[in-house]
Parts: sequence; C-alpha cells; structure tokens
Amino acid sequence: MRIGVFCSGGDAPGMNPCVRAVVRAAGQAGHEVVGIRRGWQGLLDEDFFGKEHGQTVMNLRSVSGWGRYGGTFLHSSRSDEFRTVAGQQKAAENLRRNQIDALIPIGGDGTFHGAVDLANHWDGQIIGCPGTIDNDLLGTDFTIGFATAVRTAVEAVDKVHDTAASHERMFLIEVMGRHSGYIAVYTALAASAETACIPETPTDIGEIVAHLHTLKARGKTSVMMIVAEGDEGGDAAIINRKLIDAGCPYATRVLVLGHLQRGGSPAPFDRILASQLGIWAVDGIGQNLTGVMAGCVNGERTYTPFPETFAHHKPIPAMMLKLLDTLAM
Ligand code: F6P
Repeated sequence: MRIGVFCSGGDAPGMNPCVRAVVRAAGQAGHEVVGIRRGWQGLLDEDFFGKEHGQTVMNLRSVSGWGRYGGTFLHSSRSDEFRTVAGQQKAAENLRRNQIDALIPIGGDGTFHGAVDLANHWDGQIIGCPGTIDNDLLGTDFTIGFATAVRTAVEAVDKVHDTAASHERMFLIEVMGRHSGYIAVYTALAASAETACIPETPTDIGEIVAHLHTLKARGKTSVMMIVAEGDEGGDAAIINRKLIDAGCPYATRVLVLGHLQRGGSPAPFDRILASQLGIWAVDGIGQNLTGVMAGCVNGERTYTPFPETFAHHKPIPAMMLKLLDTLAM
C-alpha cells in the first residue's frame, strides 16, 4: 500500500514527530510513504518530499532526528484552491496518478473538513491525526501541539509577571485558540493568573471590575488576566478599553502572544502523543478504516468520524473552570 502523509492548516509543535511515527510504522508494516509538502495545496501541485532528488518514497532514515523539532519539515498551508470542487477533483486525480491508496492528513478542523470533501471524489482511505495548538477537536482529550503552546504561553506570562509586579500593573495577555478557550484556561491555571476571559463563559466587564476592586482592597498590587483571542467580549485590546471605561483600578498594559505559541521544540507530552497517534493512524489503515481521526481518550485509542470531530464546540471541563475560580484570589 502507498500512503500519503501531510500537514495542513496552522502548524503545531509535534507535527514532525507525528510524520516520523507514520513513516516508521508504515515502513515496518511494509507500506510505502509519500510525504506531501504544503498540505492540500502541495497535493494539488504534486509537491512531494524528495522530488528534487528523484526519490519521492520516504524511508526510515528520511525522518531521522525529526522527533525534537517544532514547525513541520513537510511545510503547511491553507489552500483556497482545494476549497473548490474543481480543486478537490484535481486532488483526487493527482492521488490516482501517483498511485496513492491512503492519506494521513495531520491538522485541525479545516483539514478534516477537507478530508470529508475529498472523499466525495476519491475512494482511498483517509485517517487523520489531530494537529493543532487549539485543542478544539472532539474525539481526543488533547491535540498535538496544545501542551507545547501552553508551555510557551506560561513561560511568557511568568516573565511578564516580573515586570507587572515591579510596576504594580495589570497585564491583559492574549493567547491563541481561535474560538476555543482551552489555551487560555490552561495558561491561566499554570501561570497563576487571576482571571481568564474565554468564549465558553460570558465576559461581564462590570463583574470583572468589581472583582478587581476587591483584589486591590485586599492588597494585591499586580494582576494577570489571560484573554482568549476568540472571547465574545473582544480581543485583549478591546477588553482593556472596556475595563478602563468601567473604572479598572489598575494601570494596564496589553500583550498579544500571537504566533510565538505555535513555535518551539515540542514538549515531551506532544512528542509522545504525536508518535502514538501517528502509529494508530497507520494501524487504522491496516484495519481498513477510513473517514476517521485517530485520537486518545482517557489513555485509550479512538477513531472518530471526521464530522464528529468538529460537530460542536469542545467543552472545557467544569472542574478546570472551578479550579481557576478557587485559585484566582
Ligand atoms: O488554528 C491554529 C491557530 O494558531 C489559531 O489559534 C489561530 O486563530 C490561527 O491558527 C491563526 O492562523 P494564521 O496562522 O493563518 O494566522
């Protein structure tokens, strides 16, 4: 069997170890692996890893050393062309021409929407691996890259804590997550922030300002607030403006962490998760599965149909929110 593997959408630390695991597991199972560069767009362009050297089949050594690097050596993209039916038909033709029998896309919900679309034009097997820092996919407790993104954000907040304390200021630190508050909540908890604004819960400016007055009266001189970029109350700059207008008792500064959170060497948790999921994707192909994402729920292997992975908003466990409330004093 010939398996195509690629990374698509926003890159996530752990994509490289995932590709490494796919190549190694597939090689041991007697399959050939073709690395497709630049995601769906690379498939449209027949941009295969090693093509420039006339060797498009990846071997066990092709991925030597990939386990510890962030980003993706296969590169990634967001393809407008693939969103069209003509693009999807062309992708299917390219797969047939290159005798690719199965695909392992590593990415987030956009990538899996693409997999569903492709299945209308191609009858090969498709098994995805959840690669996104957002941790917004159902069917897995954690996505590849989330743990590293949180680690990066926590390191940044720790540093900002120092200057916040020195100047007796409040910082609003905006983290990524598109429509999800996962990165914000985990960062707030791990970095001992006082509060988090997330899309999963209403952001009540009056209530926050009242709480800030309580903290000030209690003698707290500096405050860290983590804002999810997708908060319904606005981004960190907007929330800052609203807080000032509502009588925020602290001098404030805003920091947007942005793409910093997508980079860096993958945390051990992500390296192991990525390796496990990559192997499970290859196993799933051996079991004739298709149209599913390999995931890990409570330590167990799961295969979830693509539409279910993005069917609704992945809830943040109430226990985590309660923990934040209890600690944020
Ligand atoms: O999905 C990953 C993510 O980093 C989101 O958290 C963020 O909203 C988005 O990608 C940013 O996308 P881009 O890199 O295309 O600006």
